[in-house]
Amino acid sequence: MRSVFWENNELRMIDQRILPNHFEVLSYRDHKSVAVAIQEMVVRGAPAIGAAAAFGLALAGYESASSSTSDLLAHLRASAATLKASRPTAVNLAWAIDRILNKISSLQSPTTDEIRQFILEEAQRIADEDVEINKRMAEHGAALINDGDTIIHHCNTGALATVDWGTALGVIHTAHEQGKKIHVLVDETRPRLQGARLTAWELEQYGIPYEIISDNTAGYFLKAGKVQKCFVGSDRTAANGDVANKIGTYMLALAAFDNGVPFYPVVPTSTIDLSLAHGDLIPIEERDPQEVLGLEFEGQRVAPQNAKARNIAFDVTPARLVTGIVTENGVAYPPFEASLKKRVLGK
Ligand code: MRU
Repeated sequence: MRSVFWENNELRMIDQRILPNHFEVLSYRDHKSVAVAIQEMVVRGAPAIGAAAAFGLALAGYESASSSTSDLLAHLRASAATLKASRPTAVNLAWAIDRILNKISSLQSPTTDEIRQFILEEAQRIADEDVEINKRMAEHGAALINDGDTIIHHCNTGALATVDWGTALGVIHTAHEQGKKIHVLVDETRPRLQGARLTAWELEQYGIPYEIISDNTAGYFLKAGKVQKCFVGSDRTAANGDVANKIGTYMLALAAFDNGVPFYPVVPTSTIDLSLAHGDLIPIEERDPQEVLGLEFEGQRVAPQNAKARNIAFDVTPARLVTGIVTENGVAYPPFEASLKKRVLGK
C-alpha cells in the first residue's frame, strides 16, 4: 500500500503519528485539512508531502464550483499558498505545486473542468513518478553497499516518507533484496522518533536485521570501526551540495567524516534546489517546543513544568562532509556544483 493515494474522489494517507501501535488510513476532501495534516505530520517525508500537496491542490480544484477560469485560478493560487506554508524546509512541496501551476498556465484556453481534471492527473503522475524514481535511485545506491556492511540510518526515509519504496531506506531495501547481508543501526531520531517508530517498523516488515540506537550513540559505533556507511535522506539540497535533513544529520556527518566513514544522502532531483547557492539559504522549520517538552520517562514528563525548549526540525550538513549524493540519474561526487547540475539538468 502507498503512504499517499487517491481513491473514491478522496486523498487517503496512512496516519504516521500513531504508527507502529496503530495502523489507520485517513481520508481528506479539502485542501485546508490536507495542509493541517502535513503540518501535524500525519504525512511526512519530503516526497510524500510533495505528493500530498499535489493531491491537496486537486481537492482545491473540486472545492470551487465556479465555471469562471479566472475565479478557479484565483482559488487555486490561494490554496497553493496555504499548502506551501504548511512546512517550509522540504522543497518537494513547493516543487510539486509549482510544477502543476506552471503546466496549467501552458494549457490552451482550458475549461474549468479540464483544469480540475488536469490537476488530478498531474498529481497522480507525480505520485507514480516518485515510486519509479525511488526504484532507480535505489539501484544506484545499492551498488555502493557491500555484503556484510553495517549502515547507520537517520530519521525515516522509507516507503512512508515517500509515495512508496523510499530514498535512503529504499537503497537499503534494494541491497537486502539483492541478497547482501546488511545490518542497520537505526538512529531513534528525537524528538518525534521517526527512526524508532517508523524505520524500525518498516525494517521489521522487510526482514532486515536492525538495532535502534539513541541519537547520541552513533559516534561511539563510528569510532569503534563498526560502521561501513551512513545513508540519509534530504529535505532540500542546495546547488553546492549542502544537505538539509532531519535534525541530528549534521552531527552524524561530522562523526562519520572524523572516522573516515562514507556519508551518502539519497536525494531525488525534485529535492535539489539549484536556485539556492548554499545551505545557509535553506529555510529551517522550528516546531512547537511541546514536541520536546512532552517527552516522558517511566511514565512521567521529563522536563520541569516551567521549562522552555527549542525544537529545530532540520539542520544543514555542509557539502565538505558528504561523500556522494545518490540521485535517480546516478551518484554525484564533489565538486557538487557541477555534478549536481549535471544530474538535475542533464548538462
Ligand atoms: O520531519 P520529517 O519526518 O518530515 O523529516 C523527514 C526527513 O528528514 C527525511 O530524511 C527527508 O524527508 C527525506 S527522506 C524521503
